[in-house]
Order: sequence, then C-alpha cells, then structure tokens
Amino acid sequence: MKRTLGVCYYPEHWPEDAWPEDARRMADAGLTWVRIGEFAWSRLEPAPGRLDFDWLDRAIATLGAAGLKVVLGTPTATPPRWMVDRHPDMLAVDSRGRPRNFGARRHYCFSHRGYLQECVRIVTLLAERYGRNPHVAAWQTDNEYGCHDTVLSYSDAARHAFRDWLAQKYQSAQALNRAWGNVFWSMEYDSFDQIDLPNLTVTEPNPAHVMDFRRFASDQVVAFNRAQAEVIRRHSDAPIAHNYMGRITEFDHFAVGADLDIASWDSYPLGFLSDRLEADKAHKSAFLRQGDPDFQAFHHDLYRAVGRGRWWVMEQQPGPVNWAPWNPAPLPGMVRLWTWEALAHGAEAVCYFRWRQAPFAQEQMHAGLLRPDSAPAPGLAEAAQVARELEQAPDAAAAPGDVALVFDYESAWAWDTQPQGADFDYFRLVFAWYRALRRLGLNIDILPPDTADLSAWKLVLVPGLFTLRARLRAALATAGGAVVLGPRTNAKTPDFAIPPALPPDLPGLDARVARVESLPPGARVGLEGGGAFAHWAEEVEGSAPVIRRRADGLPALMGSPALQYLTGWPCDTTLRTLLREICRQQGIATRDLPEGLRTRVAGGLRFWFNHAAEPVACEGQDIPPAGVIWAPV
Ligand code: GAL
Repeated sequence: MKRTLGVCYYPEHWPEDAWPEDARRMADAGLTWVRIGEFAWSRLEPAPGRLDFDWLDRAIATLGAAGLKVVLGTPTATPPRWMVDRHPDMLAVDSRGRPRNFGARRHYCFSHRGYLQECVRIVTLLAERYGRNPHVAAWQTDNEYGCHDTVLSYSDAARHAFRDWLAQKYQSAQALNRAWGNVFWSMEYDSFDQIDLPNLTVTEPNPAHVMDFRRFASDQVVAFNRAQAEVIRRHSDAPIAHNYMGRITEFDHFAVGADLDIASWDSYPLGFLSDRLEADKAHKSAFLRQGDPDFQAFHHDLYRAVGRGRWWVMEQQPGPVNWAPWNPAPLPGMVRLWTWEALAHGAEAVCYFRWRQAPFAQEQMHAGLLRPDSAPAPGLAEAAQVARELEQAPDAAAAPGDVALVFDYESAWAWDTQPQGADFDYFRLVFAWYRALRRLGLNIDILPPDTADLSAWKLVLVPGLFTLRARLRAALATAGGAVVLGPRTNAKTPDFAIPPALPPDLPGLDARVARVESLPPGARVGLEGGGAFAHWAEEVEGSAPVIRRRADGLPALMGSPALQYLTGWPCDTTLRTLLREICRQQGIATRDLPEGLRTRVAGGLRFWFNHAAEPVACEGQDIPPAGVIWAPV
C-alpha cells in the first residue's frame, strides 16, 4: 500500500483567490490529502435552513483540480449560535450543574435528541451532495469526541436518557438495587424515575451508579457517531474515520471504531509531554523539544487496534502549539521523525495540522506548515522531505507484535471511580508497561478486552483489567504463550463488587487478594533480590507457586510459567527487569535501549528513532539527534 501525507485546511478562513495557490503548494510539497469542513457549519448554514454549499463545491473542485484528495469533515463539533437559540437545552452541563456555553466549540450534549436530529440533517445534506464527488475520498465524523472534557454531561437530556438506559439494562428497580448494592446507606429506589445522575451528592456516590453512568455516557457517543456513519454510508463508498485524541479514555474507542472504517488520531507530542504525562522534571526537560519517546507510539498501536488495522494520524503537530502550559518548538528533524514513527507503526496517512497559521481567534499562536504571511514554516520542508523519501522507501507495512498488551476503557472508568490511591490511574499503569516493553526494543500489539484469540503472541500482558469478561477468560486458556495479569486484574465483578471468591478469581491459579494497600509518592514495598513496588501492593494468599517474593516474604509474582499474577505496581526499572526475564523465558529477544532510542520492525525493515537531543551510537550505527534510520532486518 502506498502511504501518504496530507494537511488540514480551512478554505473558509482565507480569501477564495488564495485557494488555487494553496492547493498548488500542497501538491508541490508532495501532500496527497487535504482535510476540510469540520468546523464550517456557520458558513454552510448561516441561518436555519438557509444553505450555502456553493463555496464548498468550489473549494473541493479547486483542491481536486490540483490533484489532492479531500477528507470531508462533518461540522457537528461546532453548532452555530442560532442552533443554541433554537435548542437552548442542547448545551452540555458540567458536574457542578453549570451549562457549557456558546463561544468556543463542543458545546453540545450527546444525549440531546433535537441536536442529534440537526446533525443527521446536516450530515445527510453533505452526504447527498458530496457522497459521489470524485475528489471526496474519505470522511471524518465530528471532531475529537471527548476533547475539552465533553463526554460526561449532567443535563436534563442526559438524565432522561440515563433513566431509559438503566430501565433497558435492569428491567426493574429491584434488580438495579441488587446490582448496585443500594441497601447500603438506604439508597434503594422504587422506580427508574427517581434515579438522578451521580453528581451533586453530599459525598461520593455509589461507584456502581457512577460506573453505569460512565457506560451510558460512552454509549451516547457511540450512538451519536453511528447516526452520522449510517447516513454517510447510504450515499458514499469512501471510508469513514474519526479523529481521536491522546490519553482520552472517557468513551470506548473500540465501540466507536466498530462503526468506522479507519481510526485516526491527533498527535501533538510536545503539547502532550507538557500537559498530559506524569514524568519528572528531568524527563520533561530532556524531551522538551522531541516529546516523550513512547507516548505517540502507544497511541499508534492503540489506534491500529481501534481501526482493526486501518489507521491514520489526522493531525500531526508541525511546530509550537498554543494550548499547553508551555509550547516549545520542536528540534529540527522531529516533524520528520514523528511522521516516520507513525508510518513505521502502520499509519496509512499522516496529515499535518494545519496548512497556514491563522492570524485570528483562539489558535493564532498555533504553528502551521506556513506562517501567517504564507512563507514556509520549518515544518513544511520536513513534511516535503518525508514525501520524497516515501517515493523511494519500501512499504513499512505493519508487522505482528512480539508481545500483546490489553487496553480497556471500562477499566479506566473503574479506577477513576475508585482509585483507592490518589495516583492509581489506569492509563498510567498500562503506559508504564508499554514503556518498559519499548525500552526492551519490542514490537507491541494492543488488544481490546474482548479479544477471543490470544494464540498469536508469545506473551500477553493484562495489567489492571477491572473485570475479566467471558471471552477473554476463555481465550486465556488457549493463549499461545505466557499471560501475565495484575495488579488489580479482575478485582471487581461487572456490577462493581468484590468477587465472592476474591480476586483474581482465575481458573488454574490458586491465589486470593486478601488485602491491598495504596502507597503515597516515595513509599515503596521492596522485593527480594532488589527492586520495589510503588503506588499499589497486594497481599495475596493461595497455593500457587511463588515465582518472586517481596522482601517481607509475601508473593510478588505467582502462578505457572503460562499464567502469572503480579501483586503490585512495579517501579519502572523493576518492571523492565521482570519483563526482560519473562521474555527470556518465552524466547523473545530483547535489547536494552538508551533512554531516547526506540526501534520497530515493519515491512522487513528495522527502524531506529533517536528521540534524544544528542547523537546515539547503537549496534554499529550512529544516529543523529532527532534522527531516523532504517535497514533491512
Ligand atoms: C486538536 C483539534 C484541532 C485544533 C488542534 C490544535 O485537538 O482537533 O481542531 O484545535 O487540536 O492543536
């Protein structure tokens, strides 16, 4: 498959006579795709029912005439002002009961029926008009579901929809009371109409109540997206994508992805390092201009799974952004490195955000490939370089992973609802495992929690999965290699209670978590022979063989070589040591990579990415700072 590059463009921001020159320069830079339209509702429909699509016809024709392929976005992330006048109760409401007002974007509640109908209407008009347009070669639904904390809404619309959702699920209030344990604190209900959303309670609401609200909220995103995808499919054969984000876990991306053809995500490595990653000062300063060496790769692997193999980067950072606490400029070479790293993880396309820096409004300090005066910004030359390299380079097809790691959105909600220790965060836990595997030089596949067949991997890791569903439980029995679970895996029933037999409650593993403790920063539970647990440690009973002990003699790792349970959250170096040893036992070759160097095998090539600000020598190769090299395996 030919891998391609693209750019995000807003024709409605620029005079029409600039479009042909913009299109020509995009094509000259070697770009294939141009994504447009996703925020243009006020120009497509300036007043209710008064449509103006002519300018979009001309924009698509101009871009198409330059040989570009269009990704057409649906404009539903930015309902215009008149929409709010028409549906004043469509605004999302925050957990303190305050409406999220007009004046930015994403100010809608996923549960509002009237707004959903408006979305179906505008998407139908777009799909009818452009569904067979030869230049419209892909679609994007909405923009970044969940951005700006917008999945959870405590509106009246959400309350009514939640009651319906609960009635469907439980059928009777008595069944709900039993499932939630509402006898506790006299929280029993007689009817679904009495149930409120779990906000504004005196102290913490019942975690089972919160968990169902989180599931409901995720289902609302899925339904909202599905309504758009169904309309587009009726009129177009072009693939449909959505652009997900980094470290957003508020909805189940696997469930949204099931209705789409392509998963894509928006990759802002420097912004993420600054505001979305727990890391010490030394790490943040070492990677200030490069971004974290693993954060992007994690999402590449995650979204490859969400897209069932088909995925893109829809927005790639091209220079400094505007939205993080600090917004440094990338080291020369990083735009190219980020692009190649995505391609080596199997991205079909990488699109830069945005073509020209806008001199007005919220994002005027956000770089583009062009400066506001249309002169090239530094990112443009790097994008053009990758475009040239792609013409020569062999296809970096996705390669099967050495190791698989299960990732589950419900578990993120579960441990957010009941962290038990202030820094117990599911993403943080799984990402620590991912990072350890990357430092060992491995190709990693991320798997959804309902994976039915684990036979392809020599090692499958399942940290922190809050409940083990039947399908994965069955797959464990036929896994091709070793499975390592824990800490906190299968610690709850689906109803958010402690399993009667005590976790982890796994066939073939006589182990019971008798007590857990969470640990504040700096506190450690030492392991025999060195290393330690931080954040979380479990006291586990049972007759399963102990593979590794804590310094106090309690089990740290127990089970058989095929099925092991880890009883705590290892410190980073301890985790790497444990995983290196488990890999060795499974015959998986590992390397010990320096802090900024990462590697991946794809399409018969081994790629090396130097995320460090200094050159690095590795296996006979010298790699410059921000350098990428590849060679046949
Ligand atoms: C993304 C968003 C874009 C733009 C960009 C700025 O989250 O999809 O519309 O706001 O961030 O970095």
